[in-house]
Amino acid sequence: MRIGVPSESAAGERRVALVPEVVAKLVPAGFEVVLERSAGEAASFPDADYEKAGAQVVDDPYDAAAVVKVQKPVANEAGRLREDQVLIGFLQPLTDRDGIGRLAERGVIAFAMESIPRITRAQAMDALSSQATVSGYKATLLAAERLPKFFPMLMTAAGTVAPAKALVLGAGVAGLQAIATARRLGAVVTGFDVRPVVREQIESLGANWLDLGIVGEETEGGYAQELSDEQQRQQQEELEGRLPEFDVVITTALIPGRPAPRLIPASAVAAMRPGSVIVDLAAEAGGNCELTAPGEEVVREGVTIVGFTNLPSTMPYHASQLYARNVQALLLHLAPEGELALDFDDEITAGACVTRKEEVPA
Ligand code: NAI
Repeated sequence: MRIGVPSESAAGERRVALVPEVVAKLVPAGFEVVLERSAGEAASFPDADYEKAGAQVVDDPYDAAAVVKVQKPVANEAGRLREDQVLIGFLQPLTDRDGIGRLAERGVIAFAMESIPRITRAQAMDALSSQATVSGYKATLLAAERLPKFFPMLMTAAGTVAPAKALVLGAGVAGLQAIATARRLGAVVTGFDVRPVVREQIESLGANWLDLGIVGEETEGGYAQELSDEQQRQQQEELEGRLPEFDVVITTALIPGRPAPRLIPASAVAAMRPGSVIVDLAAEAGGNCELTAPGEEVVREGVTIVGFTNLPSTMPYHASQLYARNVQALLLHLAPEGELALDFDDEITAGACVTRKEEVPA
């Protein structure tokens, strides 16, 4: 089965869907890999390394049974996909109905990395987790770089410097990684999540649990359920009272397919000390902070608010390496002998598939 790897054309995207290490595993497993010229360059993977790994460098990566991407195809890329061709990528099935509709119309068999069920058997394919790991790590580094203070406690001849205090709101995969990274840098870290099971995970990283007296529900898939309006209001009020204690606030709270919950109103930013930093990882979904400008860094009330989107693309080498391993696991699941053998009774295949020919509306 031939797999095509196009260059990513979304603005600012530096990742690539397969890396040479993974190509070297797929080729002996019966796959042929064709890579668009320079597709890995922005992630520091030169064409020559792909060739050494057994890939062919080509001009048309769409001439393949399966096309693997990071980002959903932009309109002209979708136009190059054909009936019964397999597409794998972050296709945003919950929020991009038009894009999914386009793929359905073309009869593409599309698998969304976001839709892979989060079950033990599919852990190696879990690209949401692998990329969230990168985002969480990078969020802490951004905060440390923007903060006009040290993270660690220092005892110097000029006296002692107190450690920075960091708060991480939302402790899923990204939040836990942000906590771990802030701890390694020496900050005193506190975490909060609406899912009570997370408390133990936060504490096991050596961080404190922030008790806001708010307990949310967890879905069967392990995700948080949206809080009621009353709980949301209570959360904002409680947080407003606590935020001035912290130098850094990293927010990662998300509800799949919904706008990000609003945790930090403008009035809470105003209550923080000047020089404090907020890194809002939920910016792409509208932001956890009312003053976040998605894609930008702004200073409001003396507080730096970083709302960059697509942090994984800012660490493209490892983000691509992890993503490519996730894609490899999915490919081997869909084509165990190197040829497509789709079993739509299988939970992973059926869960991840977001369009296929039979489902084209009449
Ligand atoms: P996510 O990116 O959807 O959300 C991030 C965090 O925000 C979650 O922990 C959520 O509880 C929290 N959150 C939502 N609303 C909030 C609010 N109002 N205030 C504070 N926090 C709020 O979540 P992510 O990182 O994708 O992980 C979600 C769950 O999936 C976790 O339980 C994780 O253990 C589970 N998971 C399971 C896997 C598996 O079994 N293969 C793999 C990875 C994650």
